[in-house]
Amino acid sequence: MSRLTLYRDDNPHEILIDTQDGAEIAKALNAVGVVFERWSASATFAKDAPDSDVLAAYAGDIDRIKAQGGYQTVDILRCNAETPNKPAIRAKFLDEHTHSEDEVRFFVEGAGVFYLRLDGKVYMTLCEREDLISVPAGTSHWFDMGPEPDIAAIRFFNTVEGWVPNYTGSDIAATFPKFESSSV
Ligand SMILES: [Fe+2]
Repeated sequence: MSRLTLYRDDNPHEILIDTQDGAEIAKALNAVGVVFERWSASATFAKDAPDSDVLAAYAGDIDRIKAQGGYQTVDILRCNAETPNKPAIRAKFLDEHTHSEDEVRFFVEGAGVFYLRLDGKVYMTLCEREDLISVPAGTSHWFDMGPEPDIAAIRFFNTVEGWVPNYTGSDIAATFPKFESSSV
């Protein structure tokens, strides 16, 4: 179940909001310019289904988000037991960074935690299956896919180059809880 835990950015021990209610999560994130939605597939597909089947099952929502955000392309990123160098991939996104493009992810399978630093707070957002999150360009954030990721995520792009992380140099990420299991 997706979950939002809200902290002051200078105090990882005081929880301001902790909710698994989808409407409450969306409301809190929308208030700071972040899109959060829960989708449903229009058709069933196997876990090893080809990308084309997965994209077809969510085509209506994909087209809507592409139109809303002006995104040109989508792909599906997979990170699972067969993926080499998972610790290095996990570490790449664990330090606070920004992008010059929105970071838009829809979780077809698996889970991960986005930590968004906005207005002096950290929005720790556990995203799970059928959750969409859109992190606006320029937002300071980090992402934890956990030690044993089993993720298939649809990514939306204007340009692939725009998604290169620009690290802020802050060590704030180290002060907040990691994603060690889906029980965060
Ligand atoms: Fe990012």
